[in-house]
Amino acid sequence: MENLIEIKGVRHAYKTDAGPLPVLDGLEIAVPEGGFVAVVGPSGCGKSTLTRLIAGLMKPDHGEVWLHGERVKGPRSTVGMAFQNPVLLEWRSILKNVLLPLEIVPSKLSKKEAEDRARFLLSLVGLEGFEDKRPSELSGGMRQRASLCRALIHQPEVLILDEPFGALDAFTREDLWQTMHKVKEREPFTGVLITHDLRESIFLADQVVVLSGRPAKTQYVLNVPRTRTPTLDDLYTPEAAEQLNILRHQIQVAQGRTTEDAA
Ligand SMILES: Nc1ncnc2c1ncn2[C@@H]1O[C@H](COP(=O)(O)OP(=O)(O)O)[C@@H](O)[C@H]1O
Ligand SMILES: [Mg+2]
Repeated sequence: MENLIEIKGVRHAYKTDAGPLPVLDGLEIAVPEGGFVAVVGPSGCGKSTLTRLIAGLMKPDHGEVWLHGERVKGPRSTVGMAFQNPVLLEWRSILKNVLLPLEIVPSKLSKKEAEDRARFLLSLVGLEGFEDKRPSELSGGMRQRASLCRALIHQPEVLILDEPFGALDAFTREDLWQTMHKVKEREPFTGVLITHDLRESIFLADQVVVLSGRPAKTQYVLNVPRTRTPTLDDLYTPEAAEQLNILRHQIQVAQGRTTEDAA
């Protein structure tokens, strides 16, 4: 199988007191090994649900989720996740927060190797010297960097980022986009990024999937060809303007399908 992630004909409804709530209906996504897909779509359309399906935290009613040639049936340590709220434990140092997943799912690394790896990851994202600080001593952007290191500690095959930069100011966010490219060059992974920020999607991903309103299907796929690591200036080229125009239009179409959640 050439694709690392394959989502085929996925349909899912949540059971609620008011009856079934169809959330996903006809999801098709394929991400090659080392690829980076961004998923955009109206709020409430089922993006976080999709991340839980890929992570094996839940099973779809219909359809299949495949990861590296195996059908996903439960959670696995080859998937790392980071969220909008970094949820770091205040009573642990930054270093100990990054090491936490290894206490839950043991790895082959010795204690020394694990600590060296955590220190390496922290220096890669620019947090050298902050290893012994507490989360509250760091800025929001720095906490998000630490959360990224924690998601990477297991050397995951797949890194899932669910609106990780959504709560940050624009400049901090752009710094983190550049850090993401740096991290991906040193620590190769196959990425799934949920975002509301179309510029972020074309800066980071090589494929942008637009989901329709709920129940979500794959509405549109934009390929973002890359020959080199982008710079922020690349976001102001005619090519980027054209890509953003296409995506903006697709989002408007997607929002037209929903009645409740479109803000
Ligand atoms: N465990 C659940 N039980 C019932 N409804 C849920 C559950 N999780 C999410 N939902 C609903 O499913 C829809 C999609 O949720 P979600 O995947 O979080 O959307 P998104 O991340 O795109 O905003 C929303 O309407 C949400 O309220
Ligand atoms: Mg969500």
